Amino acid sequence: MERILVIGGARALGAAIARRAVKDGFEVVVGARDLTAAEGAAREIGATAVRCDLQDESTLAAAAELLKDGVDHIVTTGSAPHDVRARELDHDKLLAAFTAKVIGPMLVAKHFAPVLRPTGSMVLFSGVVGWRPGPGSLVKGTTNGAVEYAARHLAADLAPVRVNAVSPGVVDSGAWDRLGEGKAALLSRSAATTLTGRHGTSDDVVDAVMWLLRAGFVSGETIHVEGGGRHKLA
Ligand SMILES: NC(=O)c1ccc[n+]([C@@H]2O[C@H](COP(=O)([O-])OP(=O)(O)OC[C@H]3O[C@@H](n4cnc5c(N)ncnc54)[C@H](OP(=O)(O)O)[C@@H]3O)[C@@H](O)[C@H]2O)c1
Repeated sequence: MERILVIGGARALGAAIARRAVKDGFEVVVGARDLTAAEGAAREIGATAVRCDLQDESTLAAAAELLKDGVDHIVTTGSAPHDVRARELDHDKLLAAFTAKVIGPMLVAKHFAPVLRPTGSMVLFSGVVGWRPGPGSLVKGTTNGAVEYAARHLAADLAPVRVNAVSPGVVDSGAWDRLGEGKAALLSRSAATTLTGRHGTSDDVVDAVMWLLRAGFVSGETIHVEGGGRHKLA
């Protein structure tokens, strides 16, 4: 049975990926910065849990040691948004944003390189904002762009282990529930920016991730799951 570690797997898209992976016959390890949350999510789907905090390298080293008998795939969904204009930037939040999306996954690669099986893969998470600059998108857009390059360079570094990224558009993953009544407006605004005329679902993204795990001749790529939004004329 192939083993997959889903970092960010206790919530939203990460939890949906973990759930589908169990259904598809993987041995799933849910990684999250809060071990209790990881254990709770893991219990619900028949998985195990490990503490993985992308902002704390020691937890990544410890997780790799715990799973040293081998891991086939690692998915990292972590993000730490800092959605402000340039004049409002906070150095620590800026660093945290880059760590969640770029530096953290690189350190995951560092510690799991000896553990990842050669037929396996990593999947990183980017996002459409990387290709759609706008007010307040400076940090998220730049980190998302950097994820595309991290996937390419990690793919060359870790080969033959494959490394790819998924770049979602706006997806009703649960993450937007915090907007309350504002969520419906956001989803409908985002639908209007796509070619497909709808917002994304968790299944849209999970389908792409599961395909990448199996796509043995695909490495260093970013798969855009955003309804063709980058191609829509204004
Ligand atoms: N949903 C969308 O519309 C959308 C659009 C474009 C891109 N994306 C990208 O897709 C990915 C997943 O998004 P989402 O919709 O599932 O919602 P999200 O709220 O962005 O999810 C972030 C995930 O990262 C985890 N995380 C944050 N900091 C972490 C850390 N230091 N260590 C380990 N895990 C950490 C969170 O876990 P905790 O439970 O610990 O907070 C959560 O599981 C993100 O990278 C996001 O930028 C999403």
